[in-house]
Amino acid sequence: MTASKAYFSCSNMHSYYGESYIVQGVGFEIQKGEIVALLGRNGAGKTSTLRSIARLDAPHLQRGEIWLDGQPLHTMSAYQASRLGVGLVPEDRRIIPSLTVEENLQLAQIEKPIGWSIERIYEHFPRLAERRKQEAVTMSGGEQQMLAVARALARDVKLLLLDEPYEGLAPVIVREIEKILEEIKTLGFTTIIVEQNAIAALHLSDRALILDMGEIVFDGTAKEVIDNAELRQQYLAI
Ligand SMILES: Nc1ncnc2c1ncn2[C@@H]1O[C@H](COP(=O)(O)OP(=O)(O)OP(=O)(O)O)[C@@H](O)[C@H]1O
Ligand SMILES: [Mg+2]
Repeated sequence: MTASKAYFSCSNMHSYYGESYIVQGVGFEIQKGEIVALLGRNGAGKTSTLRSIARLDAPHLQRGEIWLDGQPLHTMSAYQASRLGVGLVPEDRRIIPSLTVEENLQLAQIEKPIGWSIERIYEHFPRLAERRKQEAVTMSGGEQQMLAVARALARDVKLLLLDEPYEGLAPVIVREIEKILEEIKTLGFTTIIVEQNAIAALHLSDRALILDMGEIVFDGTAKEVIDNAELRQQYLAI
């Protein structure tokens, strides 16, 4: 068992929910600072792939290797993976509703290693700065999404996993989150973005992976997907 040369790699991942075989031999590599779109139809296994990487126990990773920055993630618990720097921003955002913006950020920094300071976060997310004393539950969907992303950056994140960051948001708010993600990209965060809004994700990304029925059916540049109408039609219905 040796670490691959890539910053992140997973190979031969097989994950199950009970008897249901969902992630069926997924493997890919990501270089440091790359942003990769993980695309595919509803139920293709995108969330399950992210959760397998983050070492959450559902689905259960039965086989496969996952390496991040020379460390074997596949041997770790979700807690250890998070401490190593896997920052999953789940679809439901999982912020703590009864806490304020600032308390949510402080909570993320309760343990070392911490990432961005709260002041730095406010510089990049002025909307959060304005709402620092506001309870998270009272914020709009877009603001909650910003807080969820900010919370990941408050940790020393080596791999950012974004599950549908634009879901349920109005186009103008999507634009705002996109701007933040573009900024994050220029700062060199290694990122996997899962998005139903494939075109938006592709414009942000260097590379693209397409999942279909639990398997990777395409691994190439984002531009190749944008240019290949047949591929988009077949797997993404766009
Ligand atoms: N907790 C669970 N128990 C059993 N099966 C599950 C569970 N979660 C997901 N699945 C199944 O695993 C498959 C892949 O689901 P997953 O959520 O990974 O897909 P997805 O690509 O993220 O889809 P979407 O675009 O709808 O979010 C689906 O068939 C789904 O029904
Ligand atoms: Mg999903």
